[in-house]
Amino acid sequence: MKNKINIAIDGPAAAGKSTISKRVAEKLGYVYIDTGAMYRAVTLHVLNTGKGVADNLDDVDIRFSNDENRSIYLNGNDVSAEIRSPEVTANVSEISSLKMVREYLVQMQRIIAAEKGVVMDGRDIGTTVLPEAELKIYMKASPEIRAERRLEEERERGVDVDLSTLIQQIIRRDDLDMTREISPLKKADDAILLDTSHMSIEEVESTIIRMAEEVLKGE
Ligand code: DC
Repeated sequence: MKNKINIAIDGPAAAGKSTISKRVAEKLGYVYIDTGAMYRAVTLHVLNTGKGVADNLDDVDIRFSNDENRSIYLNGNDVSAEIRSPEVTANVSEISSLKMVREYLVQMQRIIAAEKGVVMDGRDIGTTVLPEAELKIYMKASPEIRAERRLEEERERGVDVDLSTLIQQIIRRDDLDMTREISPLKKADDAILLDTSHMSIEEVESTIIRMAEEVLKGE
């Protein structure tokens, strides 16, 4: 039997990381972990309790369901929809820049990946969380293309937003994520750069599967 590997997928907001990571994990029979959802869940908890982050982390329990939806549970409640709210999105970069929050979640992420066979997406997976991951991908696409993809998703969910607002939000979040002090969004030196601007979901998926198969051959 083949050994399992870990796959780190990083990149800016709305680059398609979660859609692709989920599909790649399904194809390989691996576990998909959306680390952005974990930062969002902590942000939601902080917003809900109105208490400072330091007083909050001890009573944050985050879990993912094992089914294909990969629902996220915060203290036993399914918060998969709530963590995508505009309020959480507007606050998540600030909360995720805090050292205490990052240390707490990174430790949890490393434990999840210890058994291998994980596709993990985020901003600092290849650089900080899993620097030994056997395959690292850094996905990028222009802010305009990312905003267009996000617009389509939002419309499908019945949310009415305009493209220029989305472009502004994406640029602001890129800036916050790339310039923060602790583990900023950055391509790991040994990550493969994948510009998905002109690629379909299927093309990105099959490209990454091919790369994973190459790595697995050498394992
Ligand atoms: O991928 P996303 O948009 O759901 O991520 C939400 C925020 O969480 C993002 O703006 C930055 C932060 N994040 C992070 O700092 N580190 C990660 N590994 C994943 C997300």
